[in-house]
Amino acid sequence: MALASARRFVEEGAYVFITSRRQEVLDEAVRLIGRNVTGVRGDAANLDDLDRLFDTVRREKGKIDVLYASAGMGEAAPLGEITEQHFDAAFNLNARGTLFTVQKALLLFNDGGSIFMTGSVAAIKGFPGYSVYAASKATLLAFARGWLNELKDRNIRVNVLHPGPTDTPMQDQVLTEEAKWMFESVIPRGKMGRPEEIAAVAVFLASDDSSFVNGVELSVDGGLSAI
Ligand SMILES: NC(=O)c1ccc[n+]([C@@H]2O[C@H](COP(=O)([O-])OP(=O)(O)OC[C@H]3O[C@@H](n4cnc5c(N)ncnc54)[C@H](OP(=O)(O)O)[C@@H]3O)[C@@H](O)[C@H]2O)c1
Repeated sequence: MALASARRFVEEGAYVFITSRRQEVLDEAVRLIGRNVTGVRGDAANLDDLDRLFDTVRREKGKIDVLYASAGMGEAAPLGEITEQHFDAAFNLNARGTLFTVQKALLLFNDGGSIFMTGSVAAIKGFPGYSVYAASKATLLAFARGWLNELKDRNIRVNVLHPGPTDTPMQDQVLTEEAKWMFESVIPRGKMGRPEEIAAVAVFLASDDSSFVNGVELSVDGGLSAI
């Protein structure tokens, strides 16, 4: 989703910095975006890596207008099978990593900018097995509400984009075919989202078209969370 969004941002005239932990994945993403892009390898849950990322941004461009904090993970574990490791992995990246990504980016942020973070419809639905993932994503709305108030004098908006089930490589890693079918069966159109459909909303949240949108959880899920 972030790759599709980065491609759209560049089409709209932006220069983008993207991250990934694997160099070959990053190189391929840079190749697909084609121009106006810098790839910086790093783990969004690692504070030293975040420092390196924002050092690169500062050196190459100096300032940031838009931050799309998208890195996240979530494996299934029903109550009774939740381990410390399962809990720590989800909160370490989804909550702690996102928090420090935003906090470190803020040092370079232009007034009037837009910050948005990838939540999940899981945060507002009760999908069995995903309570820890959902809770880690639900923290983002609490972050957004506090931060937008703290940043109001700088006119920086903070929102949460909740994708519904979307056809990405992550799906293949964490979902069985049966789970994919289950998710598709509860989407009114019967088909998952495409990364490009999330990217269209990311462009909206990044741009002044959403200048009066602040502190929302924007579900982009084909109506799944509405029914
Ligand atoms: N797909 C869905 O149905 C769905 C639904 C709701 C919410 N979400 C959320 O949407 C976000 C993106 O998911 P996606 O489906 O687009 O995943 P994806 O296709 O697997 O892409 C994730 C990208 O993020 C990078 N990444 C993952 N962990 C990272 C980390 N710790 N540090 C830096 N980069 C990292 C990955 O590269 P490396 O592996 O090389 O690091 C990969 O390029 C996540 O927050 C996820 O929880 C997904």
